[in-house]
Amino acid sequence: MSQQFWPFSKSIAYGGDYNPEQWPREVWDEDVKLMREAGVNFVSVGIFSWAMIEISENEYDFSWLDELLDLLHAHEIKVDLATPTASPPAWFFAAYPHARAINADGVPMGFGSRGMASHSSPEYHEAIVRYANKISRRYADHPAVVMWHVHNEYGVPVGEDFSEQSVQAWRRWLQEKYTDIAGVNEAWGTAFWGQRYTTFDHIPAPARTPSAANPAMQLDWARFTDDQIRACFIRERDAIRAHASQPITTNFMAHQAWNTDLWKWAKEVDIVSDDHYLWSPDPDAHIGLALAADLTRSVAGGKPWVLMEHSTSAVNWQGRNIAKRPGEMHRNALTHVARGADAVMFFQWRASRRGAEKFHSAMVPHAGTNSRIFQEVKSLGQNLQYYGAVQGSLVRNNVAILYDWESLWAQDLEWRPSDALGFREQMRTYYERLWRDGISVDFAHPSHDLSSYELVVAPASYLLRSEDAENLTRYVENGGTLVVACFAAAVDEYDAVHPDGFGAPLKTALGVSVEEYLPLRESETSTINYQASSGQHHALTATIWTEDLTLFGAKVVGQYEDGPAAESAPAITRNALGAGHGWYISANLSVTELAPVFSDIYADANLSAHRELDGVEILRRHHQDAEYVFVINHLNEVVEIPLVGRNMLTNEPADSVTVDAGGYAVVQTSQNGER
Ligand code: GLA
Repeated sequence: MSQQFWPFSKSIAYGGDYNPEQWPREVWDEDVKLMREAGVNFVSVGIFSWAMIEISENEYDFSWLDELLDLLHAHEIKVDLATPTASPPAWFFAAYPHARAINADGVPMGFGSRGMASHSSPEYHEAIVRYANKISRRYADHPAVVMWHVHNEYGVPVGEDFSEQSVQAWRRWLQEKYTDIAGVNEAWGTAFWGQRYTTFDHIPAPARTPSAANPAMQLDWARFTDDQIRACFIRERDAIRAHASQPITTNFMAHQAWNTDLWKWAKEVDIVSDDHYLWSPDPDAHIGLALAADLTRSVAGGKPWVLMEHSTSAVNWQGRNIAKRPGEMHRNALTHVARGADAVMFFQWRASRRGAEKFHSAMVPHAGTNSRIFQEVKSLGQNLQYYGAVQGSLVRNNVAILYDWESLWAQDLEWRPSDALGFREQMRTYYERLWRDGISVDFAHPSHDLSSYELVVAPASYLLRSEDAENLTRYVENGGTLVVACFAAAVDEYDAVHPDGFGAPLKTALGVSVEEYLPLRESETSTINYQASSGQHHALTATIWTEDLTLFGAKVVGQYEDGPAAESAPAITRNALGAGHGWYISANLSVTELAPVFSDIYADANLSAHRELDGVEILRRHHQDAEYVFVINHLNEVVEIPLVGRNMLTNEPADSVTVDAGGYAVVQTSQNGER
């Protein structure tokens, strides 16, 4: 984010969502005292306060918020002031029952939770703009307010909306996109199953259909839904901007919510912010965390970002909510910082006694301030102060992973060759391979300029526009190493199979195309004989997916030995094109099985893996004249890393750092400090 926007020069912001309206007034005094004790300098306020402020339509009571902001200011705690438009009051829905979103089964959302408004409701639009105007005019010059937080996690819990007003907006959206109905018929291939339309007025929302709904229609519906939601953000943002000059954000959920295209969203905010929660069933959830943090930094264009929410320990909305063990919160927070976050925030400051989130962890837990969690919160707050110099520094990587929300939306539709092959799983597998190899990555869209990267990996590019495939081909010709995983470039932006067949747009880059997809049964496997460049043979076990390939010049480096592809048929290929190489991996391989293949890929890209340090993250941020190296040890053993510089925690010079099991260290080195 541009420095002019960052209100915490040379320090990492620290704090969380603060919901004092749930507590008696005397608790606020204790809160601010404890915040100071914990090193908190930043809180998000008012996220769910609409009903407490706009008491009835157009009747406002700002008195408690006035008092609260003054109290926070008096204690030098800065405020990220929210518009509470994710949770309109009961009076609003009583007055405007049609402003409720309706689900795919035609059921209107009920009151008593949050997030039930239709993003296409004119009454909702009017109400959110009115509120945004009112609150921003009132607090534009309040000295505590340094940021605006619009809404909360757009896209959840309500994304799609099948209400009448949404359908009307959908038809307008289609008219704007395609101009005439012939354009829709062509784009959606409505000749199939007799779906041809004669007028926009006959186009429904893709609600429950008796069999598979038109996939191109569903893909456009996903785009429309994203646009509708984003238009609500823009309405509020512009209303705030008319009165206030502080940066405006809204909290994303990179790789945890699916219906917002964050490449588009990031262009609309002044500062990117993200919420992240560990996925409890995953014993290596910290790898998912790393992925989300890298994706957030990437959509932010590499600029530092705000970790708006994470948890001190367990959440309460997963099936089995696993508590964090001592030290885990600190490692999590530091991983976000190492990957570009300039703020470490939690949901929430004080655990709620009542309501749906009473079992969610907080900075001040139900157990009080003598608890392990509060002590760790304090020590994290203190340590972040030692890392203040890191603020504003950047992350540099020379590997990119391609991530396109449109491809995710399209791949997840029904009636694919195998529903066991998922975008998210493919993304995670390839990301994890690189993570375990100690290679840190950016994410990029396939249309981006990729020329600064030595290696580009496309784990899940099912939908690939022809012009983006040309971009990838040029990248290879110019000397890049491109790795493409199975089921790639199957369809174009209308979910139509590419004219010359599956994979055709990448034929030049990869020297191969796909004759037929050969998914496997649930317990079936297929063995690939991989001939490493070292001469060694590796028997790799594929699950879920194999393919029948046609060669167009690529060298075969791995053959199927069994399974539905013919014996000795090509499975993994390497193509030389111009100054670069295009690899194709036509089967679904696990993180472990991918290891020998990636060893050779790294050689093509002049990269080296650090498998001896699997489980230890070593990450770097840079200022012009300084480098900060974060070592985060997820292992159960002590590691010693040679690093010459200054240990930022102890402020001692260091030749190396010894990092305890589950521990961490941050070392400031000279600019090009070596591993
Ligand atoms: C989301 C919301 C918060 C809270 C947390 C709980 O991120 O934004 O209001 O519900 O989840 O994990």
